[in-house]
Parts: sequence; C-alpha cells; structure tokens
Amino acid sequence: MFVNKPPMGFNTWNTFAENISDEMIRETADAMVEKGLLAAGYNYLVIDDCWSKRQRDPETDKIVPDEKKFPNGMKAVSDYVHSKGLKFGMYSCAGVRTCADYPGSFAHEYLDAATFAEYGCDFLKYDYCYKPKDADGALLYRKISMALRSCGRDILLSACNWGCDDVHKWIRSTGAGMYRSTGDISDSFVSFRDIFVSQLDNFVYSAPGCFNDIDMLTVGMRNRGNVAASGCTDVEYRTEFALWCMFAAPLMLGCDLRCIDDATLKLVTNPYLIRIDQDEEGHPPFIVREGWNNMRNIYARVLSDNELAIMFTNLTDDYAGNMCFALDEIGLPISSGKALRLTDAFSGEDLGVSSERIQLSLEAHDCAVFIAKIADAK
Ligand code: GLA
Repeated sequence: MFVNKPPMGFNTWNTFAENISDEMIRETADAMVEKGLLAAGYNYLVIDDCWSKRQRDPETDKIVPDEKKFPNGMKAVSDYVHSKGLKFGMYSCAGVRTCADYPGSFAHEYLDAATFAEYGCDFLKYDYCYKPKDADGALLYRKISMALRSCGRDILLSACNWGCDDVHKWIRSTGAGMYRSTGDISDSFVSFRDIFVSQLDNFVYSAPGCFNDIDMLTVGMRNRGNVAASGCTDVEYRTEFALWCMFAAPLMLGCDLRCIDDATLKLVTNPYLIRIDQDEEGHPPFIVREGWNNMRNIYARVLSDNELAIMFTNLTDDYAGNMCFALDEIGLPISSGKALRLTDAFSGEDLGVSSERIQLSLEAHDCAVFIAKIADAK
C-alpha cells in the first residue's frame, strides 16, 4: 500500500498494555466516531501486544487470540471496527516472541500474514524483540512485507525496530509505510523531547511512502496507564502534539479515548496542526535558527498552496526569552516585495502580514506554530 500521508489513529499500548478486550476495543471504536476523531482523520484502531494466547495452536501452528480477552475472536472485533468506518490494526513481532512474551512471527511470516488477512486486518505493527542474533533484520522486514503483499489484503506495514541498524537507510526499500525510529515513549516532557531531538537529523528520510514514527502520542494520558511517568502539563502536551505535526509524524493517539477530556480533544482535532501534519507535499522542515543545542530552535516547512508552517520551540527547562528570525533567512528577502500573512495554528487567529522579521517570546516547554501564506509586503 502506498502511504501518501502520515497514518493517524489510536494504539492500545500506551494506556492499556495487556488490559485489552473485545469490549474496550468496541468502546474505543464508538468513542472515535462519537467524539469526531474519525472525522478529524484518526481512522486506524490498532491492537498492540498481548492479544494472543501464550503459545501457538499445536495443531495448526497459528497464533490464536486469548479467548478471555477476545471471546468472539478477532474477526468479530475487526467487523465491528469496520462497521464504524474505521480500519483495523494488529501487532506482531519479527522475533520468536513479542516484547511482552507472546508468540512472534519469526519463521511464521506467511502463515501469520494469512491469519491477519482472515481477521480483516488493515495495518500491522511489527516489533523487533527476540530476534535471533544471526537473523538479518532488514530481511525480516522484507519478508513480512512480501508476506503481507501476498495475503490478498491491503495491509499497511508499520515497522518498529526502534531505530536499530540504521533503519532509516533501508526501511523505505522494504515497502513499509512507517517506521519507529526510537525507543519507547513515556508520559513526560523529557521523554518526548529526547525522542524528538534524537531524530532531528533523520526527518529528511521521512516522506510520502514511509514516515518516521516517533512513537504513539502520550497527549491527554494525564499520567494514567501503562507508560505513565511524571505526566505533562497542558502546555507540554500542546508542544508534543505540535512537534509531531510539524515533523509529519504518524499521529497515533495513546490516551483512553473513551474518557478523553475536552482540552485534549480540542488539541488533537486542531485543523491547522493536522493540516500541517498531513500536508500532501510531504516536505521535511528545516532549521531556520538553531539555538541552545536545539533547545530553542525555529523551524519552517514548505507546505502546499504557497503556504509555510513556522514553529518556534523552547524546550529548555527554565529559560524564557525573545526569539526572532528575518524573512530573508527562509528565502524571502525584502527586495522580493513579499511577506508572510500569519495564522496562529492553536487559536486560528489571523495575525495579519509580517514583513522583514518575526519575533516572539516563549516560556520554557512552550511553542508557537503559525501557518504562513506568502503575501505582498505592505
Ligand atoms: C515494544 C514497542 C512498544 C510496544 C511494546 C509491546 O516495546 O516499542 O511500542 O509495542 O513493545 O510489548
């Protein structure tokens, strides 16, 4: 499947880990529709690790769902998810066991791809735990990709090898639609900041076809669930979501959508930020000004329709202060007679035309994001 925009959806891991069930998946599917998340673009509902029994069926060798969690089997769950207009995602692993010690797909790739097709699966997250030492990781992703391409269903491959083995150099060639580039996120500012900064040199490899997945969002978790850590403030969640959008990351929500709070819902359905994330041209951002070892950077990204996205970040813990760049630095010299009409991406407010320079002040952990349209200078 050719993935032309960063995939969007929900994944069970961040909040639920092994506490997944037929009922909670159906309730989540209902919530995605009722709360407008599907309408905003979140169309994949992905079940992560811990859905199967601990061992394969001794007769068929197939992975089998845990009947305590999924008493009606996976096809019934998938049918329900599809009946809501959503797509259904599942999880397996390139190694012999999954990270939570359930059967992995190593040496069972074609059998498992056929099983996922029987379930009506549209998306497969494919992890990297328990990979035999002498197995070639790239070949394992090629193999599952070929197995999925042979199984009779269009299934998006979501590779998850945490950035090992210089994955950005070869993952596009496997046919995967997205690839995890880092270790696991937890619900704290430091966690998402470190993950984001670790990928600054690699976002140029993220483009239509295969997007750099910097992990499921913790936005709105409010320190509940499996990856709870120190939790984040509203400002920090705003920064997390905006960074993911600015860098065209897949937007996989990780909070409990059945009880998502209003502030989180408003943030994750923000049409300006989603428009940036999903921009059809898929160009990478560039650093306009680097500051404090990437803690106070200004980024710009060329978008479709003669627009740009501009983001100011203050990822320091305790410094507030002015940040500024001249339009010349993004290729709009005064002599061009051109300027930028700015819209605040958080509020939607039209801020009018800025000529020559853009300047503002940010508190620690905060950010500002603008959609800028090329306009005539005043
Ligand atoms: C790994 C992945 C996580 C999650 C768990 C499940 O740690 O990186 O995203 O899928 O496995 O066990």
